[in-house]
Amino acid sequence: MSFKDKRIILTGAAGGMGSLLAKALLQRGAKLAMVDANADALQALVSELSGDVYAVSADLSSVAGCTGAVETCQQLLGQVDILINLAGLNFFGAFAEQDAAHIDIMMRVNVLGPMLLTRALLPSFLANNTGKVVNVGSVFGSIGFAWFTTYSASKFGLRGFSEALRRELADTDVQVAYIAPRAVKTPMNNDAVMKMGEATGMNMDEPDVIVEKIIQTIESDKNDSYFGFPESLFVRVNALLPRLVDKALAGQNKIAKTFLSK
Ligand SMILES: NC(=O)c1ccc[n+]([C@@H]2O[C@H](COP(=O)([O-])OP(=O)(O)OC[C@H]3O[C@@H](n4cnc5c(N)ncnc54)[C@H](OP(=O)(O)O)[C@@H]3O)[C@@H](O)[C@H]2O)c1
Repeated sequence: MSFKDKRIILTGAAGGMGSLLAKALLQRGAKLAMVDANADALQALVSELSGDVYAVSADLSSVAGCTGAVETCQQLLGQVDILINLAGLNFFGAFAEQDAAHIDIMMRVNVLGPMLLTRALLPSFLANNTGKVVNVGSVFGSIGFAWFTTYSASKFGLRGFSEALRRELADTDVQVAYIAPRAVKTPMNNDAVMKMGEATGMNMDEPDVIVEKIIQTIESDKNDSYFGFPESLFVRVNALLPRLVDKALAGQNKIAKTFLSK
């Protein structure tokens, strides 16, 4: 699949990976509606970019924010070809100490938002029997990580949504892809996460490398992609032998606990 003249909605476009992905998509000739909650960062990004690009400021933690964003994007782009669900929120800390309101918003942005955006676009995808939804999950969507409990739960949800919807749409030409990076050096990971990552030997990729892999995954029409070794292997081991992974992660969990956000 080529990005030339494809009309794309990219959420989380003002973020660490989003801004690089926006640039890469425009360089490949896409027409882009960039959606993000961070209106200032979005405007600054638009002024740096050249090509067919629009900024749509929206809060994707609400039903109205999601449906409104899709309506605006359709007005700007016309028929949409690809939805890339990249917006997300993270929390590194003890679940027992996470605010209820923050748990609520994380689940909304990370899993409910992508579902609602997809739901709003699906009728036009089905009417034209074409279109693609790309959900950016995480290795934490297959391996539940201590101290990232809400984040893991949200990405497990996103993976389940992707798999079920793909099966539901199997007799159409509408595609659903799920992409799972391991840790990436972006503002999503605060100082505590970076220090914990160093102390535990966690592999962390550069955002430009991951953006290139996201582009390649979409271009090659793959359904699922797990980036990085040995994480992609651990995903399989965890599915088959989770007790073994409990033991393997126990030491790392103890070290990580000493870096928790308060
Ligand atoms: N970085 C990693 O280690 C890593 C690893 C695996 C997967 N991922 C996934 O990759 C995606 C992109 O992550 P990133 O590292 O680029 O993170 P990032 O730099 O924090 O970017 C995320 C973007 O989403 C936006 N956003 C948050 N809440 C929103 C809302 N309610 N409505 C609209 N936009 C909202 C953020 O805006 P604000 O700045 O206003 O919050 C930000 O611009 C996420 O889905 C993440 O889970 C990241």
